[in-house]
Amino acid sequence: MMHIKYFQSEPKISPFAPEWYYEFGEDKIDDVDFKELSKFLLEKEKELLSKPLPYDFNIVDAYTGLGENSVTSRWGSYNLLAFDHPEIKKLRNNIFVKYISFMDAVGVERDTVFIQCWFNVLRKGQDIKAHIHSINPYCYLGGHITVQCDNTSTVYINPINQINEPQIYESPNEVGRITFFQQNIPHYTTIHNGDAERISIAFDIVMKDGIDFTKPASQNLILLDEITEGNF
Ligand SMILES: [Fe+2]
Repeated sequence: MMHIKYFQSEPKISPFAPEWYYEFGEDKIDDVDFKELSKFLLEKEKELLSKPLPYDFNIVDAYTGLGENSVTSRWGSYNLLAFDHPEIKKLRNNIFVKYISFMDAVGVERDTVFIQCWFNVLRKGQDIKAHIHSINPYCYLGGHITVQCDNTSTVYINPINQINEPQIYESPNEVGRITFFQQNIPHYTTIHNGDAERISIAFDIVMKDGIDFTKPASQNLILLDEITEGNF
């Protein structure tokens, strides 16, 4: 079941006081074999890293700090949802269903949207540094799915109160957990200290007219309504 957390500023008294209101959704995916998916993604990681960087993009790792030797740096060159694997098929259905459930829960009407999806692999000692996905006028939704983890969290920071004593929401990683957040919300992970890889899937949901802002991923977008192959 989709759980929504609401973050809202106190009523504004001064004309110069900041205001915020944002929602954060969390749910759990139960019917994907995440062990199988982990194996598959680690193979895909090798394949993606065996090719040269696919684009000339100044911040290849999207400000995560993982550098160009990470699979994260290939994020814009493919769409994970286009990989041919039975668990990916199930994942597509799940993302669609959870997205509908998030939109219903926050009471926002659905638009024509596209999805771009990639994955991250962290090894012992690594973390993902704070970054944001979008602040453009078409800023929409991002999402995370934990595939394999060992005692890490993803931390979401209040986009207004993020400097002195940041207001944070720490979401413990748990296999199968899916989250939805506004793309302008800064987020990072705690340090991964496990021996096995920490694997997470991330996606951006973008509005049709905002596609130009999604470079270098804009060629790989999939219409969200089509990811379930007509099952819904
Ligand atoms: Fe991110």
